[in-house]
Amino acid sequence: MNENILTIKDGRTEKTYSLPVERGTIRAIDLRQIKEDAEDFGLMTYDPAFMNTASCRSSITFIDGDRGILRYRGYPIEELAEKCTFLEVAYLVLNGELPSEKQLADWVYEVKHHTMLHETTKKFLEGFRYDAHPMGMLVSTVAALSTVYPEARNVLDPQVRRHQIARLIGKMPTIAAYTYRHSLGLPYVYPDNDLGYTANFMNMLWKMVEPKYAADPVLARALSILFILHADHEQNCSTNAMRAVGSSQADPFVSVAAAAAALSGPLHGGANEQVLRMLDAIGTTENIPSYIEQVKAGKLKLMGFGHRVYKNYDPRARIIKWTAEQVFQVTGRNPKLDIALALEKIALEDEYFVKRKLYPNVDFYSGIIYQAMGFKPDMFTVLFAIPRTVGWLAHWDELMRDPEQKIARPRQVYTGADVRHLPAEKPKILVGSAV
Ligand code: CMC
Repeated sequence: MNENILTIKDGRTEKTYSLPVERGTIRAIDLRQIKEDAEDFGLMTYDPAFMNTASCRSSITFIDGDRGILRYRGYPIEELAEKCTFLEVAYLVLNGELPSEKQLADWVYEVKHHTMLHETTKKFLEGFRYDAHPMGMLVSTVAALSTVYPEARNVLDPQVRRHQIARLIGKMPTIAAYTYRHSLGLPYVYPDNDLGYTANFMNMLWKMVEPKYAADPVLARALSILFILHADHEQNCSTNAMRAVGSSQADPFVSVAAAAAALSGPLHGGANEQVLRMLDAIGTTENIPSYIEQVKAGKLKLMGFGHRVYKNYDPRARIIKWTAEQVFQVTGRNPKLDIALALEKIALEDEYFVKRKLYPNVDFYSGIIYQAMGFKPDMFTVLFAIPRTVGWLAHWDELMRDPEQKIARPRQVYTGADVRHLPAEKPKILVGSAV
């Protein structure tokens, strides 16, 4: 027996093939040798939505969905949330190791010195309608940074990449805060380098006429924990978009814009906004049973529930629940928490959800905290995008360093018409004729 070999017998030809197995995978390209005859293209795999396909090797994030485990660079998410700052975790995710004291100080300095936006970018933001969705503004503004930093196109240079990474991590909170101020018609607030990453973000969001904004330390820390929990999640939809767009060697600003666009959908990062809208629609705990019945009848989805990878309680949801209690001591309890807790209890006992292994995910409780802190639901996904930028960039940098990676270009199974021809009587369009 050779445990690292997969033997495949092709019933069509009676031929046998031996494929190497490495880390629980076979290479899809090895299947190409399996042909019915010499003219045959060779066997491919068909895997819509990547249900069982590893698109890369990555050393950034580990998830065991059956056991509810999430680790960045080997460190359990619970320990990082308890003991680290967001920028410390960002350094870890990007570089593979936690920073020394000096490395952290230098990294914080670097990020802080990239928080300002070019004034033309600020003017660009002013062009949006007053009721523009903040995610639309964020996606467009991040893409627009590509016009400000043309040198970013030199994506094969590690130094250039590093510079853009610091720029993006520094500027995301500023763009996010400006989208918020824009929707309220408030003047933009410039970054304050005396403040930490999340406290400065709160300053840019909520400073009014006071000379110096003082962020509540409990809320700033809660936001930091939420950012840590959202920093990366291996090959999710938006990270896959980042890798796909980045693989064409597009610059990081347009690639991050593409990733943020993927995040905005309600099945991904947009779910946190939808959870709040769902809790609003349910209104009171008495309405929960009828809502659950509609979900079971396939008429509605329980937003914030279910996950492609987690078939157990999402470890991030547990930490968010704990963080919510800290936040509520400052802000007062968000009454929606009672509806959410009752909904979770019923769902976790109901056969429909148990059978399908549907548990609360990261988005189920995050919106309740954000709302208690004063955010409107349409800002929730923007709050997801800020920290996830770290993960997107770490994967982008890993992609650019990986000698095995090429432009992402999946195959298809063609199901359309066989060759057919235009009618012979249809005239040719001559060059120069009006079209
Ligand atoms: N409510 C009701 N039923 C559900 C839900 C839900 N939230 N999620 C999955 N199901 C059912 C689904 O209908 C299917 O049932 P059946 O086998 O009878 O057809 C079964 O569970 C398996 O679901 P699936 O849609 O095949 O699973 P998936 O891996 O393709 O989708 C998901 C994962 C997250 C898109 C999905 O669970 C979902 O739509 N959840 C609600 C949206 C949400 O909370 N998204 C945030 C995900 S976590 C953070 C992030 O990625 O941003």
